[in-house]
Amino acid sequence: MSVVEVMTKPKVLVTSCETPKTGIDLLKVTCDVTILPYVEPTIEQVYAALPGHDAVFLSGHVTVNSKFLDIAGPNLKVVSTMSAGYDHLDVPEIKRRGIKVGHTPQVLSAAVAEIAVMLMLNAARRAHEGRTLLEEGKMERGPQWLLGHDLRGSTVGIVGLGGIGQEVVKRLIGFSVRKFLYTGHNRKKAGDELGAEFVSLDDILELSDFIVLAVPLTLETRALFNDAVFNKMKKTAVLVNVGRGAVVQTSSLLKALKEKKIFAAGVDVIDPEPLPSDHELLKLPNFEIVPHLGSATIKTRNEMSAVAAQNILDALENQPLAYPL
Ligand code: DGY
Repeated sequence: MSVVEVMTKPKVLVTSCETPKTGIDLLKVTCDVTILPYVEPTIEQVYAALPGHDAVFLSGHVTVNSKFLDIAGPNLKVVSTMSAGYDHLDVPEIKRRGIKVGHTPQVLSAAVAEIAVMLMLNAARRAHEGRTLLEEGKMERGPQWLLGHDLRGSTVGIVGLGGIGQEVVKRLIGFSVRKFLYTGHNRKKAGDELGAEFVSLDDILELSDFIVLAVPLTLETRALFNDAVFNKMKKTAVLVNVGRGAVVQTSSLLKALKEKKIFAAGVDVIDPEPLPSDHELLKLPNFEIVPHLGSATIKTRNEMSAVAAQNILDALENQPLAYPL
């Protein structure tokens, strides 16, 4: 009696119908791909489709915890998030179950660094305030009107000299910055190569004219920027956050901007997201915000999709992931 082996393709669930085709096309060569018909599904919509899949491609920040993994069932081999940040994933629990997990750092570093530089300049040069006054018909021409601060000759402190932090420094070199400082777990070769000095967080706070937050959200970084930290910053300092919103305590930021403990802030990320449209921060002239657009370019999102797909293909072939967590 001959046995006919039926080869079934691995089943991959993609959580958004807006996922760039670059990744979907890669997956479709060897996998059965189900794409949820929602831009941003609710968790219930994800759960309804989840059971039995071999891989999940998270196009947005879908929470993956024990409940998610229980619902997915024993076939699940890999969770791949199309993001660099992974605070929506219970990584230890995923790994404890022998499931691989990947993300998409590096390919978005340049795009996020561009947004960081934009926010530094907009906040320091009062772009939002100027636009608002113009719309209100209040333009003045006096030589002291809306004066801001220069990047030229400034000290820039980077909290987290990872891929994004390094790209920020590279982009700022042309702005004649006087000194780059950075802080983190340890001194980095990349820091030496970029001419940046490794210092403590307190030194960053005390010495920096611009502080750029480019750290992931972890137990260690949650609410790192609180009242006590703002009290140590220069009154002329500009704070930029392109990491995660909850690294900064929003109530402390509001207080610091209102009481002019710092000059201005520019953020791509805030806690909560979205910031309610009537939030007091949005009424402040010295607060610049873009709604989490750091990686939102066509090229970058295409690359992120391809990397997230490659992580899945690597895991399904029992190979090391291109970008594991
Ligand atoms: C990331 O990749 O983590 C960005 O913040 C977009 O989600």
